[in-house]
Amino acid sequence: MSRLVVVSNRVPAPKPGGASAGGLAVALSGAMEARGGVWFGWSGDTAPHDAPEPEEARLIVKDKVTYALVDLTERDLEDYYSGFSNRMLWPLFHYRMDLTGFTRVTLGGYYRVNKLFSKLLRKMVEPDDIVWVHDYHLVPLAADLRAAGLKNRMGFYLHIPFPPPDILTVLPNHADIVRGLAAYDVIGFQTPYDVENFETYLRREKLGRRLSGHRFVVHGRAVTVMALPVGIETEAFAKTAQASEKNALVRRAEESLVGRSLIIGVDRLDYSKGIAERIQAFESFLTLDTEWRNRCTYLQITPKSRSDVAEYAQMEREVAELAGRVNGAHADLDWTPIRYVNRAIGRNALAGLYRLARVGLVTPLRDGMNLVAKEFVASQKPKDPGVLLLSRFAGAAHELDGALITNPYDIDGTAGAIARALEMPLDERADRWTRMYERIRNHDVAWWCDSFLKALEQPANDGAEVRPI
Ligand code: G6P
Repeated sequence: MSRLVVVSNRVPAPKPGGASAGGLAVALSGAMEARGGVWFGWSGDTAPHDAPEPEEARLIVKDKVTYALVDLTERDLEDYYSGFSNRMLWPLFHYRMDLTGFTRVTLGGYYRVNKLFSKLLRKMVEPDDIVWVHDYHLVPLAADLRAAGLKNRMGFYLHIPFPPPDILTVLPNHADIVRGLAAYDVIGFQTPYDVENFETYLRREKLGRRLSGHRFVVHGRAVTVMALPVGIETEAFAKTAQASEKNALVRRAEESLVGRSLIIGVDRLDYSKGIAERIQAFESFLTLDTEWRNRCTYLQITPKSRSDVAEYAQMEREVAELAGRVNGAHADLDWTPIRYVNRAIGRNALAGLYRLARVGLVTPLRDGMNLVAKEFVASQKPKDPGVLLLSRFAGAAHELDGALITNPYDIDGTAGAIARALEMPLDERADRWTRMYERIRNHDVAWWCDSFLKALEQPANDGAEVRPI
């Protein structure tokens, strides 16, 4: 078995503050701990503006994983992370053209940090290693590594949606970004819809086409393109949820509910998650279904995220105001309808809270996958499961057909679905849950990782012309 080198911007290195609430780090941690290898990326620390460029990554070895960490300067983070990655690619790929901000300076920072990563990484990669790069921050990395002479098998996985061509072409350098993708041997997307968008883009822009099955030509180079939905450690998470019934925080939460039904939402504070629309739907539900007043509590756990980006800071204010207003309008002397918690909760307690909930609200406006949906399902009591309310715009909706599928833009429709979920009889809840649990048990994170690495380890032997870029 070749050594695996994983590269991602966010690396949950074993140090205080190193962990992240994001889907990518959550998904990869289990797989990396099981298989071992090198995990390379940003340390999470910031070097001063004028710090000299590092010549080597810092290594931390824990069990089978070597974490190779790079400090980025304030300027690099501003341009590459907050700028091009999170003010251009993130909003655009989540269909929010209105929130994008493109500048040559941030674009330059994006390519600069990818070059720095390539310079440091190539010193560590051995000829037989396979390299697996993750997410939108690092698309150009393989092209940089190839330019430096690396011939390794390299794969790329996009954790966020791949938008339709009319949206992607808003990006002034879209052709360059897609040329970057062509340097990989395998490209993985979350859903067949993402692959479809990629294929349509190639055809319309005349930059490539599907050869057959998973084989594509992109910018003249043959690559394998697959839809491979990311999963969770389903059985382990289910066990954690069961054990967490005794967790002190979960017990406290349970006691504080005094018999009321719990509705739960857990999201990073991000505009793609539809948190404001969800609060509005909850308010509409309270207004339409008055008999539920005082009989349910909506707990929204929302750790802050990317607060240096203006659009995030603004939505932080908007959501806090909205939750406050709804509580002001609907609370009673002994009842607060929304509990809005702006901090991260540990995974054990989170699993116990999901298990306690009667309804899980996962209603993003757009999401690559959404692992909260899968964790909610994994956490349920098989004999008395809660109901998942899931946005049709989450990648997870392609798999979890036992969920109540909603359109988060339809506020009153979502309000109706909340009532339906709370009132759903046990046999229907159990039927729906069983279907979903089977799916995520058979398609867990180990399945995802093995399937991707299998494709990456076995060069396709289809005789397609492979030209250097
Ligand atoms: C999403 C992205 C990840 C990212 C995570 C957290 O899941 O796909 O790449 O790590 O959000 O965001 P952050 O900016 O804090 O890393």
